[in-house]
Amino acid sequence: MKSIRMFVFAGVVGIGLMLAGSDLFSAQDRYALKAPNGLSFEDIRGYETWQVIAPSYRTDKKEVRYILGNTTLVDAYKKGASNKGIAFPDGAVLVKIAYSEMKNPVFPAALEPDVLQRIEFMVKDSKKFSATGGWGYARFVYNPASNTYTPYGKDAAFADECYQCHTLVKDRDYVFTKYPVR
Ligand code: HEC
Repeated sequence: MKSIRMFVFAGVVGIGLMLAGSDLFSAQDRYALKAPNGLSFEDIRGYETWQVIAPSYRTDKKEVRYILGNTTLVDAYKKGASNKGIAFPDGAVLVKIAYSEMKNPVFPAALEPDVLQRIEFMVKDSKKFSATGGWGYARFVYNPASNTYTPYGKDAAFADECYQCHTLVKDRDYVFTKYPVR
């Protein structure tokens, strides 16, 4: 009898751990969230498995980032988009996932991603987002304590801030990241 109880207990703990590692356990349905300009996680559904374009590292913020792209974006890069003034087509999407850094415990010279900080993205729709260079911007700030996201920005004008800085690379269709040889 005792062994049956232990078995059931272990099963319940196991299921609990599985749920803790999944979206199901989150207090929030992140797909229901909207940035002030209407963009949402729906617009990047499945991004977790998109191709990595390149990593980046912000020395001032001490953040490790991955930049990912959907197939429309990757195909366009391969055809030379963002170089020589070639623009990305509508439907191209870039996602940036930012983490705080940590030193690898057994090899401290190696920096690794630690805690998720935010997820942000750019969606090309040249008509809808013509006021910001043809790209729609969105940022969702992650709160690790509650495993929830908060949309960034008070109103739709928040995207002006993104657009202003990305204008530094206007001649690369507002995209900083290059597609490195692999
Ligand atoms: C002060 C400058 C600055 C501002 C403001 C800014 N970005 Fe960026 N962004 C960058 C730089 C530099 C990169 C290159 C990669 C990196 O820094 O990690 C980048 C990269 C990106 C990328 C990956 C594609 C690319 O261009 O390389 C996305 C997506 C992105 N930013 C979204 C946003 C969003 C959304 C906002 C506004 C909420 C925003 N950015 C505001 C400077 C900025």
